[in-house]
Amino acid sequence: MKILGFCGSPRNGNTEWMIDKLLEGARSVGADTEHILLKDRDIRLCTGCLACEMKDETTPGVCVIKDDMEPILAKMVAADGFVFGTPSYFYMLSGLLKNFMDRTIPVWPLLKGKSAAGVAAAEDTVGKALENLRTYAEVCGLEWAGDVSAFAKTAGEIANNEGIAAALNGLGRRLAEATRPE
Ligand SMILES: Cc1cc2nc3c(=O)[nH]c(=O)nc-3n(C[C@H](O)[C@H](O)[C@H](O)COP(=O)(O)O)c2cc1C
Repeated sequence: MKILGFCGSPRNGNTEWMIDKLLEGARSVGADTEHILLKDRDIRLCTGCLACEMKDETTPGVCVIKDDMEPILAKMVAADGFVFGTPSYFYMLSGLLKNFMDRTIPVWPLLKGKSAAGVAAAEDTVGKALENLRTYAEVCGLEWAGDVSAFAKTAGEIANNEGIAAALNGLGRRLAEATRPE
């Protein structure tokens, strides 16, 4: 069972820590995990050409932009579950994570039935950030295992929050249980 985490923060901060804690929980019940920091990948803006749309129900589309997305999309198709993490930016998800989601057009119909969870870090107002993540999951037909939000401002400020760590660990275990093959 493979679970991929996608961090939509442009810094090594609270969102990254939250995804790490969640993935720790998933590993504790047997999941194989990988945490992808989107900021460290070459993922250019979607140009909106739609040349990548799937031509039939089983064959992934191919994006004309040659950057780090192609291997990530292959990993998504092979994976069983996902964690999407974002800082709250103007009460919404970050542009980094949104652009990544836009670039999943070549495969999104193939994600149907996989599992997903979300995390968001905010100074004091999560706003619609988690709702944004749930909306992406709903459009793709992902089964939502749950979400956790936490309040912190400076990078790393969240790391002493044992209550949030426990909640993330529990969500990670639930996500892994939900993705366990029959
Ligand atoms: C461009 C920008 C917009 C932000 N908007 C909000 C906001 O609407 N609500 C909020 O509570 N915090 C807001 N923040 C604060 C971040 O959400 C907060 O610092 C969070 O911990 C960042 O997560 P990170 O450490 O994973 O990057 C904003 C920060 C930035 C840089």
